[in-house]
Amino acid sequence: MTERLEGEAGLSRAAELLRAGELVAIPTETVYGLAADARNGTAVAGIFEAKGRPRFNPLICHLPSLEAASDIGVFDGAALALAQAFWPGPLTLVVPRRASSGLSPLVTAGLQTVALRVPALPLAQRLLTAFGGPLAAPSANPSGKISPSTAEHVATGLAGRIAAVLDGGPAGVGVESTIVDCTGPAPRLLRPGGLPVEALEQALGAPLNRATPTNDTAPSAPGQLSSHYAPAKPVLLNAAAPPPGALFLAFGPGHETATANLSPSGDLREAAANLFTLLHRLDAMPGTAIAVAPIPNHGLGLAINDRLTRAAAPRG
Ligand code: TXA
Ligand code: MG
Repeated sequence: MTERLEGEAGLSRAAELLRAGELVAIPTETVYGLAADARNGTAVAGIFEAKGRPRFNPLICHLPSLEAASDIGVFDGAALALAQAFWPGPLTLVVPRRASSGLSPLVTAGLQTVALRVPALPLAQRLLTAFGGPLAAPSANPSGKISPSTAEHVATGLAGRIAAVLDGGPAGVGVESTIVDCTGPAPRLLRPGGLPVEALEQALGAPLNRATPTNDTAPSAPGQLSSHYAPAKPVLLNAAAPPPGALFLAFGPGHETATANLSPSGDLREAAANLFTLLHRLDAMPGTAIAVAPIPNHGLGLAINDRLTRAAAPRG
C-alpha cells in the first residue's frame, strides 16, 4: 500500500524509504516529483516502471544546494551565473556530468551531461538534506497523464505502485521547471517552464537561444537522436546468438557464454538498471558489433526495446 506521509515524522520516513531504494512522491514548488535515489539503478528503473514510461528519457536530479550540485556537474560561465541568480527555484540546468558523479547511467540515459535542479520548496529542501544525496524525479504521474500539483493527484494516479507520498500541500507553480542547456557554446532553452524566459535573458544580459526542440521529452525520429548516447558499434536486435566476431548481450537464464547478461534471472527492472552500463562496457570491448538477445515487450521491456531500437537505428 502507498503510505501517506506528512509532518516531521513523514519527512524522516520519506528519507528512510528513499535510502532503502523505494519510490516516494515528493512535493516541489513546480509539481510533485516521483523520487528515487539517483545512485541506485534498480530504484531509478522503478520510476520508469511505476510511471509506465515507454522509453528511457534522461531524468532531472534534485539537490539541496549549488554546492551539492557541484559534486555532480560542472558549473562555470552561464551555468554558474544562472544557478547563482535563480537557485533555489523552478530552473533546471543541463551541465557536463562529473565522472565521479556516482549517478546510475539510467538517470542520464547514458549521456555525459546531467540535468540538475535545486528546488525552492522548504519541505523539498529539508528532505534532500535529510536524504543526503541526489534524487532523480520526473513528475509523479502515470506516463501520458497530466502532472500532479497535489498529493491527492499523485495518489489517484500512482497509489499501490509507489511506497509513499509526502504531502507538502498544493504545488505553487503548477508547471514543470524551465530547462536550460548550458553544455553548448551559448545557453539554449530546452523546455519553457516555471521560470519565465524573460527573467533568464535579463540575468544573462543577452537573448536565449530559443530553438527549443519540438518535443522536449524524446526525439521521435532517428534524425533527432544526436544528443542521445548511441554505441559506436553496430547494434543487432533480437539475436538468438551472436554472428562471428560480435559480442553478445544476453537476457535471462541459460546464457553462460554470453559477453554479458542484462539480467540472468530475466528481471526487466534489473535489465533496465544495467542497460546503459553494459552497452558502454561492450562498446569499449573488441568486437565487430553488439548483438542483443530478444527482450520481452511488456513492462519495462517496452522502454528497453525502444532504447535498443534507437541504438540500432541507421546512423546519419
Ligand atoms: O519541475 C520539474 O522539473 C519536475 C519536478 C519534479 O522537479 N521534474 C521534471 O523532471 O519535470 P523530468 O525528469 O520529467 O524532466 C526530464 C527532462 C527530459 O525530458 C529532458 O527534456 C531534460 O529533462 N533532460 C534531462 N537530462 C537531460 C540531459 N542530460 N540533456 C538534455 N536534457 C535533459
Ligand atoms: Mg512529466
